[in-house]
This record gives sequence, C-alpha cells and structure tokens, in this order.
Amino acid sequence: MILIDGKKAAAELREELKQEISQIKKKYNKVPGLTVILIGDMAPSQIYVRNKEKSATEVGLKSEVIKYPGNVEEKIVLDKIKELNKDDSVSGILVQLPLPNHIDKQKVIEAIIPSKDVDGFHPMNVGNLSSGYESSIPCTPLGCYLLIKKIEPNLSGKKAVIIGRSNLNGKPMAQLLLKENCTVTITHSKTKDLRAECLEADIIVAAVGIPELVRGDWVKKNTIVIDVGINKTDKGIVGDVNFDEVSKVAKALTPVPGGVGPMTIACLLKNTIDCFKRSQK
Ligand code: GUN
Repeated sequence: MILIDGKKAAAELREELKQEISQIKKKYNKVPGLTVILIGDMAPSQIYVRNKEKSATEVGLKSEVIKYPGNVEEKIVLDKIKELNKDDSVSGILVQLPLPNHIDKQKVIEAIIPSKDVDGFHPMNVGNLSSGYESSIPCTPLGCYLLIKKIEPNLSGKKAVIIGRSNLNGKPMAQLLLKENCTVTITHSKTKDLRAECLEADIIVAAVGIPELVRGDWVKKNTIVIDVGINKTDKGIVGDVNFDEVSKVAKALTPVPGGVGPMTIACLLKNTIDCFKRSQK
C-alpha cells in the first residue's frame, strides 16, 4: 500500500511556489499578496488562519490578516472587501468560514471580486470550473486532485466515487475528476447503498464528516482512497475512512492528519500566485 505523504507533497509544492515567487519578483518588482479576513474567536479558525499566514510568509508572499470581533456589522466586512478588491497590492482575498450567524455567507462570498477569489467559492468561479474554463479552484479538492494525479497520472475512464456533495469539496472534486475523463458518482446521505457504490470505485474521495465511515470491505484492491475528513472523537482526530482496515486493501491511502490537510494550505498559496499571474495578463 502506498501511504500518500501529504506533508511531503505540500513541501514540494511550496518549494516550486517559492521559486515562482522569486521569478515574479524579478520580473514585476513586486510579490503577490494574500489577505485573510478572520471574524470572531473560534479556535479552529484561528489555528487555520495562523497556519495560512505562516505558510504564505514562508514562500515569500505578502500576507495580511484582518481580524474582526464576532459581533462585527456585516456592512463593515463588505466595505472592507470592496476596498481590498480595488487594492493592487492584494492578489487574493479569503474570508475564513464559518461566519457568525448574523453575517450572510453568500453575500460575503459574492462581494469578493472573482479574480481575487482564492477559495474559488464565487458563483462565477464555480460556473467557470463546471464549464471547463480557467477559474480559481477550491483549495481542498485541488489538493486532493494533485495527490491523486501523483499516484495515477492518467485518470481517463477511471470510476470515481465521491462521498459528500458540499460546495467546498464534493461538487468541485467531481468537476475536477470529470475534466480528467473519470466516470464520477457523487454520493450523499440519501444514497441507497453506499458500500456497493464504493466497491465499484477506482478512486474514492471521502468528504462527509462521519468518523471512519469507509470500511475495509467497502474498498476493492487497487483503489486510491483520499480521506478529507477531520473528525474529533474520543480516540483523537480521525478521518472519514477506517485507516487500519482500508490500508490493508487499498492501493494508496491518505493518512489523517498529514494527508489532504497540508495540501489545502499549499493550494491556497498556489491560487494566490495564479490570481496574481492572471491579473498581469
Ligand atoms: N473553513 C474551512 N475550510 C475553509 C476553506 O477552504 N476556505 C475558507 N474560506 N474557510 C474555510
């Protein structure tokens, strides 16, 4: 079984991005900038944002975090986004989710100009991705996609089963694999026989948030299994895949932690650079 080392893959990607940034610096005499907006004091969001900032600075991006208290008025956030949209030193804008209930998530997502939407959540980018045009691609599915391609460069005709239909993961993941000519099945909580669907798969991407849902007898030999889950349980953080069981049958599997997670942040940095490059065209 191939244990897919997301930490190593992310470190390699960051090294490539570092080189790219130093070339950009020479060519344009400036560096791409990432601005993250963090609202409230939820511990997981604070940790994510700190990691994003640290990684961005390490590869040589200009990095800024704007923090607001949890009771900030929606208008203040929207006005700040408008200002950042016009600021030439900002290549990418990310508003950390989840947001407090009084702030309309969709309004915030749509306030970000699509050309700086490093999350790829704006309907314009969602539409462009599904139409096969150039767009920002959500960081987690992009990270999963790059890990899958490392194991299997030619995905044409492969059967992919995605567990979970979220806008963050499942749906964009399906689009990416469809672009590679996979036959894609998106499964969800109303799917009749999830195990039977998984047993057909050459590639399984589990992004549903149910601890250890995917069992050893759900997976056929030679399947690539990508575990997007991060679930807190009594025995610590576990993924959506039962690692011990599935590692005995799969061709390749991502661990949790150390699989998809590190790639998500590296892909955010990649998206920031890609937004910068498109802005210079
Ligand atoms: N919260 C958890 N994951 C994400 C993500 O990919 N982007 C944003 N903006 N917030 C998140």
